[in-house]
Amino acid sequence: MDGLGDVEETGLSEAERETFATDVINGLSGAAKSIPCKWFYDVRGSELFEEITRLDEYYPTRTELSLLDDIADDLGDRLPERAWVIEFGSGSSRKSDLFLDALNDPRGYVPIDVAADYLEAAAGALSERQPHLQVRPIAGDFTEPIDLPADMAEQPKVGFFPGSTIGNFEPPQATRFLAQGRAMLGDGGHMVIGVDLKKDTDRLLAAYDDAQGVTADFNLNLLDRINRELGGEFDRERFRHQVRYDPDEGRIEMHLESVDAQTVRIDGHRFEFRAGETIHTENSYKYAVEDFAGVARAAGWTIDHHWTDAEELFSVHLLAAA
Ligand code: SAH
Ligand code: TRP
Repeated sequence: MDGLGDVEETGLSEAERETFATDVINGLSGAAKSIPCKWFYDVRGSELFEEITRLDEYYPTRTELSLLDDIADDLGDRLPERAWVIEFGSGSSRKSDLFLDALNDPRGYVPIDVAADYLEAAAGALSERQPHLQVRPIAGDFTEPIDLPADMAEQPKVGFFPGSTIGNFEPPQATRFLAQGRAMLGDGGHMVIGVDLKKDTDRLLAAYDDAQGVTADFNLNLLDRINRELGGEFDRERFRHQVRYDPDEGRIEMHLESVDAQTVRIDGHRFEFRAGETIHTENSYKYAVEDFAGVARAAGWTIDHHWTDAEELFSVHLLAAA
């Protein structure tokens, strides 16, 4: 599968646009400027992310795909038959076929993603590849409570949360998310989750600052989105993609750095930037296997098993509710 072709951007609903505006205005009003990372994913952002996953420097996607392929039989043995697969942050659903094929006779697939237009295209394409499967996409924010259709209540449910998207939460939010997921998936529930591991700093930095500048484009696209959806007046030539590794926090940080002193208007609001001042746009926490197990246990999960690739770049954890 090689991209989803041209996906049409229908834009945000009025309510979503209000939330976006509030997040941006609040985020740029404090002493330390930041914008929540979920706003990266308009159609262009989703496409750029898909491009990132195919870069040489970005080791997580190919490592996780090959790990999932290696452990498919084991996963199938450990997970219930006739389960619903609920995927959090499904993006292009490129990993989903491998996961669904590992399970015994899955009942259906519920991809959840905030990128509504891209989700619809990805769910449609998956449905064509897996015509026997019920596919029921849910567009929305997975940090908010989500009601699954009532007919799934008594049926086994397996959460799938690949891509180390869990790393984009601060650890307390990761615990909160996992606790909410445990409640959603029920007492017999399971969750399979991909978690990126701590490693050499240069390797990490390169994964978020590739030579071709695709990740820079992904980060700067947020400014284009603010201009388009919120009437912003950012000049992307006056911001630069910046990546840091904070060894104390164990996280990669992405920022947008103002090249010079400037004032940016967004729909009647004015924001002052000093030269070198940044907007913090994303964290990507890197875990040691045991540290992640602690986060999962704090959320009420039992660790059934975990796997890593031979180089120990990436891990997959199987959590059980019981
Ligand atoms: N699972 C894919 C994509 C990971 S990128 C993979 O492993 O390659 C993160 C995905 O999560 C994107 O598709 C993005 O749109 C989605 N996302 C990010 N924040 C979200 C949120 N708060 N609620 C729902 N989806 C979110
Ligand atoms: N969660 C993944 C990670 O942190 C994917 C991701 C989200 C990402 N935003 C990104 C990767 C920006 C590169 C750049 O790796």
